[in-house]
Amino acid sequence: MSYQQQHQESIHNPEQYWRRQASKLAWHTQPSEILSFTDADDPASYQWFADGELNVSYLALDYHVEHGRGEQIAIYYDSPVTGTQSAYTYAELTDEVARFAGVLKRHGVKKGDRVVIYMPMIPQAAIAMLAVARLGAIHSVVFGGFAAHELAIRIDDAQPKVVVSASHGIEPHRVIPYKPLLDKAIEKAEYKPQATIIFQRTQVPTDKQVALKLQTGFDFDWATEMRLAEAAEPVAVKSTDPLYILYTSGTTGKPKGVVRDSGGYATVLHYSMQAVYNLKPGDTMFTASDVGWVVGHSYIVYGPLLLGCSTVLYEGKPVFTPDAGAFWRIAEQYQAKVIFAAPTAFRAIRKEDPNGEFLKQYNLNSVETIFMAGERLDPATYDWAQAVSGKPVVDHWWQTESGWPICANPTGIERLTTKAGSSSVPVPGYQVVVLDDAGEPMKANQQGNIVIQLPLPPGCLSGVWQNPERFHASYLRQFPGYYSSGDGGYIDDDGYVFIMGRTDDVINVAGHRLSTGEMEEVVASHPAVAECCVIGAQDSLKGQQPLGLVIMKNDVELTAEQLEKELVALVREEIGALACFKTVVVVKRLPKTRSGKILRKIVRQIADDQPYQAPSTIDDPESLSEIAEALAKHAKSS
Ligand code: COA
Ligand code: AMP
Repeated sequence: MSYQQQHQESIHNPEQYWRRQASKLAWHTQPSEILSFTDADDPASYQWFADGELNVSYLALDYHVEHGRGEQIAIYYDSPVTGTQSAYTYAELTDEVARFAGVLKRHGVKKGDRVVIYMPMIPQAAIAMLAVARLGAIHSVVFGGFAAHELAIRIDDAQPKVVVSASHGIEPHRVIPYKPLLDKAIEKAEYKPQATIIFQRTQVPTDKQVALKLQTGFDFDWATEMRLAEAAEPVAVKSTDPLYILYTSGTTGKPKGVVRDSGGYATVLHYSMQAVYNLKPGDTMFTASDVGWVVGHSYIVYGPLLLGCSTVLYEGKPVFTPDAGAFWRIAEQYQAKVIFAAPTAFRAIRKEDPNGEFLKQYNLNSVETIFMAGERLDPATYDWAQAVSGKPVVDHWWQTESGWPICANPTGIERLTTKAGSSSVPVPGYQVVVLDDAGEPMKANQQGNIVIQLPLPPGCLSGVWQNPERFHASYLRQFPGYYSSGDGGYIDDDGYVFIMGRTDDVINVAGHRLSTGEMEEVVASHPAVAECCVIGAQDSLKGQQPLGLVIMKNDVELTAEQLEKELVALVREEIGALACFKTVVVVKRLPKTRSGKILRKIVRQIADDQPYQAPSTIDDPESLSEIAEALAKHAKSS
């Protein structure tokens, strides 16, 4: 069937379409109900495969061992930051996961319990995820670049029985001691887990090793626990039971706990590995992300393993570990068929190696397609990547909430023409529509709010953890009958979707989704700050960089430079280095409407040197030229 036929079937006969896809998995109990509604009058009350039962860890591991893939590599671990390369076969990985599930079980973890995982990009992170899933428990992975405060917020919200962590993470120029960060987070959190299990890393130069301080009866050493453990069997759960919670930035200081179900997710990952990425069992996928992000959950860990592929877990950067040839080296070494990374990674490679000299050292014959997502793929990077690699480049659009691509060139169904600047067409299952602010459909090529008609296909978020009100308010209330993506853009005459940017206070820094509202809360907590706003300004490498504008309180004995230093340190301490919050400009006033709303869009336009028009409701038009002057002065001095 062509893409058009498949898409039509998925929209007009979703039960038939998804029954076919779901039947390809070895469910514990095959679902007979495909799409059902808990409230016949509420289109948002849909459920997928409600009476099906399965265990995702079994499907990703044991199933393949039982079907002759035991000796195939499941995970290639490649870590230039430690000089380590190793691999786990499916049989070895199954054994490790079963034993770690046994460790968790000894600590009382059972179906429905939460386990927070705060780890660097090491195989133990994936082992911990799969072990939690094996018990029917729910994991919540927290990205290692987040500081103690952010970890504490997530611990309070998820209320994990156990936290799994490691002695330290390794960035190219520094060691990040995770255990002290975890200790601080647990101290800050109101909720206290029952135990922590800590993996002591050894592949680090002795001078960089961090001595582990384990508190007796509370902190447990991974290796010791594994020696004592017995393998645990997979526990079947309902399709609608949560597999994980993944926190993502919203518009407020409190991140949203996106809840992912089990059966819908397994079905669409197994499906999309083939339909979108054109992979087959036995192929290798190299996704350069982190297990702390949705891309890592879906296409480093679960997707490749569910299909019986080999996945590369890469602990390094696209450049300087050791050079801009790292991605190409990996592709050749592990014979990757797909490379998937954020555009910012390719911009970094391009900056270091504009003519692709490093690339010439490697044979990319195995690579069929390069996929990019996480932020808008600018046409210049798209053209460059395609030209130097000689491979088709596919931009595809998705979110933590969707868990798998919403728009893509579905290379496993039909290779469509690509268009620079567009993430191509809606993947089967998604009916993407553009609405104006009043909820009226826009014409082709007109920009508006990108929404998706309900029901969303399987695999998308089933709620916000313990907060149905926030789920409705964030995604469903603004446009009844639709899921509101928070992105703006348009659809052209050929049905190609162009995602142009967020319509809310979320920004995207180096492919990392961050909330300016959250940064504002931290900046506003400084005693010298009377008022502030944080916006995302354009950045040629990272897409966007946060920029803070601050009004100082009267009688404060700090220079603007001192305040900037303190605020940069504060955001780093509270949110983490990944926020890349480096610039603060002191101003006398902020542009506001008469009702007191800060005109952030205009501030952004000024920062980006774009033309702007002050609205008639502006209270103080002169503040705009003052801001432009202050920004220019700051740029000159730094
Ligand atoms: N643990 C702890 N700290 C981390 C971290 C982690 N897992 N990841 C990043 N950080 C820190 C970095 O050390 C850096 O700290 P610094 O300010 O002390 O230098 C800061 O967070 C910013 O990191 P990063 O965004 O990686 O910036 P960089 O300048 O070191 O590298 C790129 C630039 C473009 C190479 C890098 O941003 C990159 O690889 N981006 C792609 C990210 C990606 O894959 N996103 C996709 C998610 S789907
Ligand atoms: P995250 O939830 O961290 O995956 O971030 C999702 C957000 O990243 C989306 O809402 C978009 O704003 C942005 N995004 C992801 N992929 C793309 C893409 N291909 N094109 C444009 N924006 C993208």
